[in-house]
Amino acid sequence: MPKCQSCHVGDVLNHQGSDIVRRLAYDPEDKAATPILADNKRFAESDTGLYRFSTGHGGMDCTSCHGSPHAIWPNADENANDNIAATQIQGHAGTITECNSCHTPDSLPLTLAGPHGMHNVNDPRWGEEHGDLYEDNPASCQSCHGINLEGTRLSRTAVDRTYQTDDDHQGNNSIWLAKGTDVSYMLCHERPEAHDD
Ligand code: HEC
Ligand code: HEC
Ligand code: HEC
Ligand code: HEC
Repeated sequence: MPKCQSCHVGDVLNHQGSDIVRRLAYDPEDKAATPILADNKRFAESDTGLYRFSTGHGGMDCTSCHGSPHAIWPNADENANDNIAATQIQGHAGTITECNSCHTPDSLPLTLAGPHGMHNVNDPRWGEEHGDLYEDNPASCQSCHGINLEGTRLSRTAVDRTYQTDDDHQGNNSIWLAKGTDVSYMLCHERPEAHDD
């Protein structure tokens, strides 16, 4: 039985094989097809547990944010019943990612202690203050945004967003990003110095 971690083998800085997300849950050389166990447990089930018995952020079942094992959110059919719970909880289908769905708005500090090490989402304070957290620990950002902060599948917008920016974008200090955009440094700032040292 494959595990989530058999394919979701880690983050940008630490994963097995060439991809962050594999398409085969076992090593093709292994005739027993033993499910891969990730070294980096960022996206892994609880020890030895099945997904449906595993818990993550705040001790919640994985299923509370991702749906049941054979119906991981979102369902590609926009009108599918599988998308109703997430839409009611956070206003759009897919993984539950809006912190305000569970936390009182503005009650959280600026943090990287959200699910899987995620930061505040759709919070203008994050737009203003995130530079300091980057300076303190660049690797904590590179792990999802990419080694050169170029954006990856782990930094995708969950829904259409308008972010505040430092720099002038066509006459205003905000930028609109469509759902599914890989959020990169360069979308909002001049290209940074190389970070691949
Ligand atoms: C056989 C490999 C495999 C397994 C096992 C697997 N995934 Fe995935 N998953 C993928 C791939 C590949 C993608 C990316 C698909 C794409 O981008 O085209 C993905 C995408 C996702 C997404 C993003 C969906 C979206 O549209 O944003 C989530 C969330 C996810 N998986 C959660 C899980 C969970 C939870 C489990 C365990 C119950 C799991 N996956 C098990 C391979 C796997
Ligand atoms: C509070 C909500 C929450 C809980 C609980 C939660 N997750 Fe997630 N999960 C997320 C969010 C948000 C993301 C997207 C992170 C990103 O885009 O970088 C995610 C991403 C993932 C992915 C990677 C999908 C991809 O696109 O590559 C996997 C796999 C996953 N979670 C598995 C789990 C497992 C296993 C558990 C339980 C041990 C769990 N999650 C518990 C919110 C949650
Ligand atoms: C599905 C509900 C849910 C979502 C969504 C969610 N959290 Fe939480 N979070 C919890 C629960 C439950 C706890 C544990 C509270 C406790 O132990 O008292 C928690 C605890 C925390 C804590 C520990 C400090 C505290 O206030 O207790 C932080 C920090 C945190 N969450 C950040 C985030 C961030 C950032 C996001 C969005 C990326 C997020 N959370 C999304 C439910 C959620
Ligand atoms: C677990 C993965 C993850 C990590 C770690 C992470 N990010 Fe993100 N980041 C995301 C995702 C996903 C989004 C898009 C969220 C959305 O709007 O749906 C995002 C969006 C952003 C945005 C635009 C949103 C806004 O409110 O302005 C900024 C800026 C940002 N990240 C900076 C950082 C910095 C700086 C760090 C390190 C301190 C960091 N990120 C670490 C996943 C991550």
